[in-house]
Amino acid sequence: MTNVASLTVEDGIGILTIDSPPVNALGINVRRALHDGFNSLAADNAVKAIVLICGGRTFFAGADISEFGSEPVRPHLGDVFEAIENVGKPVVAAIHGTALGGGLETALICNYRIAVPSAKVGLPEVNLGLLPGAGGTQRLPRIVGPEIALDLIISGRPISAKQALEYGVIDALAEEGTLREDAIAFARTVADKPPVRVRDRDDKVAPYRGKPELFSEFRKKNARAFRGFKAPENIIKAIEAAVELPFDEGIEREMELFLELEPSIESQAQRYAFFGERETSKIPDVPSSTPTIPVKSVGVIGAGTMGGGITMNFLNVGIPVTLVEMNQAALDRGVAVIRKNYENSAKKGKLTIEQVEKRMALVNPVIGIEALSDVDLVIEAVFEEMAIKKEIFSKLDRIAKQGAILATNTSFLDIDEIAAVTGRPEWVIGLHFFSPANVMRLLEVVRGEKTSIEVIATGMKLARQIGKVPVLSRVCWGFIANRIMAKRAIQGDALILEGPTPQEVDKVIYDYGFAMGPFQMSDLVGLDVIGRDSAERTVAGDLVKLDRLGQKKNGGYYDYDESRKATPSPVAAEIIADFAKAKGIENKGKQSDEEILARLLYPVVNEGAKLLDEGIALRASDIDMASILGYNWPVYTGGPMFWADTVGLPKIVAKLREYEAKYGAEFTASPLLVKLAEEGKSFTRG
Ligand code: 3HC
Repeated sequence: MTNVASLTVEDGIGILTIDSPPVNALGINVRRALHDGFNSLAADNAVKAIVLICGGRTFFAGADISEFGSEPVRPHLGDVFEAIENVGKPVVAAIHGTALGGGLETALICNYRIAVPSAKVGLPEVNLGLLPGAGGTQRLPRIVGPEIALDLIISGRPISAKQALEYGVIDALAEEGTLREDAIAFARTVADKPPVRVRDRDDKVAPYRGKPELFSEFRKKNARAFRGFKAPENIIKAIEAAVELPFDEGIEREMELFLELEPSIESQAQRYAFFGERETSKIPDVPSSTPTIPVKSVGVIGAGTMGGGITMNFLNVGIPVTLVEMNQAALDRGVAVIRKNYENSAKKGKLTIEQVEKRMALVNPVIGIEALSDVDLVIEAVFEEMAIKKEIFSKLDRIAKQGAILATNTSFLDIDEIAAVTGRPEWVIGLHFFSPANVMRLLEVVRGEKTSIEVIATGMKLARQIGKVPVLSRVCWGFIANRIMAKRAIQGDALILEGPTPQEVDKVIYDYGFAMGPFQMSDLVGLDVIGRDSAERTVAGDLVKLDRLGQKKNGGYYDYDESRKATPSPVAAEIIADFAKAKGIENKGKQSDEEILARLLYPVVNEGAKLLDEGIALRASDIDMASILGYNWPVYTGGPMFWADTVGLPKIVAKLREYEAKYGAEFTASPLLVKLAEEGKSFTRG
């Protein structure tokens, strides 16, 4: 056998074990091993039944994602499945870890499935812009019916072994720790029975035949969530085929629909994001062997929106938090908001009341930072003002124990300047959360000039522990995500003085795939909040002067009715026109959507290139992950840098030069962008 497989026969039961770290992905070596293994099991008359099991941390985690987009090598998964299906004796899949995608599909081609209670199974291909292309869209509906299949395949959500047993996706639960023995015992009980095949079942799909309403209603209900993604529609079509067509024709249809998705930009972008999310942890001068500092207790300074959200992240994973405020009222308010958030989750069935209480019991609300003398990590989340931060850090330097990590959640300020007020700058780091801090998956880990590599490694690891994706940044104004996205905001503000209306600008951004445009966002957050620290006169400032604060009061860029439905605002239009006049900016009328998009987003790309040039960000994919996870940049575009590559860098440089000639140096293309464009290279594809 190959080096990833071992085959033994124990008293009539053939046991094929595959062990291909890290996750037994179904790459060429594994496929060969399965193909050879099943062929020799078929030929061995002593074998009456077969157990297929994996070594290491999991059953097959799916097709090898890194192979997509390159020439397929035989045996294909289809060849392997044919060998399994035609082996002529019952096959039992023994599942531990996560049987995902092609992994679950492999289990579904077996005749029986047994799993340990901690196992999970699912078809998450949708997250890669794909559909389960190895029979999953045809077999799962035959077991659970099309309604549940639609839910599971479109959400990509894995289910527990217990749920899988209830649905009939698996046939039995094994004991934790004795999967192999239990699977062999199970195989003995079925060795003499004719093999059961999922493909032969019809009872769960037959009732839906000739009833397209299920699918049309599902499409309608989810239209907003599916916007811009290609995979959901193809998944629906494939499940429709499972209901309407004989099995083999359904499989052909599934393959057609899969092959439409695989080369699409959307799927390429989502696969890139899958690896990009994992890549962020790789830091050249902070090797994975760097020792980390145990963090068993946390102190958070500031119980406002950010502080409260940050606190929840730690409570969620069982780490106690000492939450500090200046006065009792603010502290009580902060704690009450945390409780309310948890109780809302409980109402939605996401938490039990016991879990809510368990988490709340981990908060220790206190007045004054003296209580932080013994915590392992302090995160300061107070008002964004340098003087206040410096005062807090010099106090912390006196109070915090030696070996405590001192972190700031600042969004824009110079962390080195903050660190300099302490006698231990190597222990100071930025941990920049995005609002809402308990929801958004980005955590920018900002390394100061003197931050030690142990502290950086701890920040990166802790982020994963609380379910975030850490992106490392060096110190600069706004770090990565805020710095690049500020360019979009600046251009939006400039554009509305030249002719395009806020609604035209917002529509272009919405059509690109964002949940809303910059002006809708400003109105939602509140114009008083957005324009707070701007000394210059702005349109937003003029709106605030008229007490137009956004959705919450009198409208902002838009007018709103009682149900907060937005309409274009004549008052705002007048304010914008007056402002433009005062600035001497001529209204040049409408612009095309393409022009508006270039004007808003090419400067973002350019700023991303500058981050790379300056060494603020380590790699283009880090910038993309920060944008996707911090700003909900549509993942199917791959983020600004990946998207720029799909647009073509020479086109972007040419446009930036045109803007530079018209508007000045803020559009000057970064040297890296120009170099890559000239050399025919890209940010993300080498
Ligand atoms: N192909 C290639 N590499 C994979 C992989 C896959 N399917 N799944 C994981 N890896 C790699 C990761 O990139 C990572 O590599 P690195 O160490 O070099 O960064 C390594 O394996 C470990 O992965 P994680 O860090 O994610 O490990 P976790 O233990 O946190 O999670 C997991 C394990 C839940 C299996 C998670 O890796 C995962 O969700 N994998 C993807 C599952 C998936 O989407 N499967 C469907 C694939 S598409 C398919 O099957 C098409 C079919 O229908 C035809």
